[in-house]
Amino acid sequence: MRGRFITIEGIDGAGKSSHIEALAQWLRTRGHAVVLTREPGGTPLAESLRELFLHQEMDALTEALLVFAARRDHLRCVIEPALARGQVVVCDRFTDATFAYQGAGRGFDLALLAQLEQWVQQSRQPDLTLWFDLPAEVAAQRRAAARDADRLERETLDFFERVRAGYAARAAAAPQRFARIDAGLPIDAVWQQVAQVLASRVWT
Ligand code: TMP
Repeated sequence: MRGRFITIEGIDGAGKSSHIEALAQWLRTRGHAVVLTREPGGTPLAESLRELFLHQEMDALTEALLVFAARRDHLRCVIEPALARGQVVVCDRFTDATFAYQGAGRGFDLALLAQLEQWVQQSRQPDLTLWFDLPAEVAAQRRAAARDADRLERETLDFFERVRAGYAARAAAAPQRFARIDAGLPIDAVWQQVAQVLASRVWT
């Protein structure tokens, strides 16, 4: 069985966390060995970088370097070995988040991000990306009801609309890889879409 790499994306408050465990379970019940992980994070080093990333003030270049440093360690220690064993890696965020947050959100140089992407990942790309999409205003209301904000989550509605547009641009550039999920719907309807994508575009 060849390994597969699934990533989950969307602005903060899109509700992706509510579905990730169910998604992993869906795959497990169909006989797949699943590694559930996240970015930034997924290794002890990358989790340490995540703490710095979420709580220290820094500029966009430092943000980009930190997330790619974490990604390098994560790819080397977790993602590539799991794929080589034929497992399914389900990762909560990956490089599309860097293009959306640092690129579109912060206005950081996309060509430089593309160079870092190439440098860190070589040809590795997700096989499938589930993009939980909803308006920034709805996501902000959900976040306010759910949790204390970290450094990124304190950003403005304008910032999150730019991040959302950044995801839309990535999706338009890779339509075979991306599946857009309408995350503004009630939770059951969102799951139905996820299950449908898994059934049609993954493997039963
Ligand atoms: P999470 O709370 O969904 O785990 O994501 C952590 C935060 O980090 C979230 O606000 C998005 C942000 N982020 C980036 O800005 N760039 C990246 O490359 C990644 C992976 C996450």
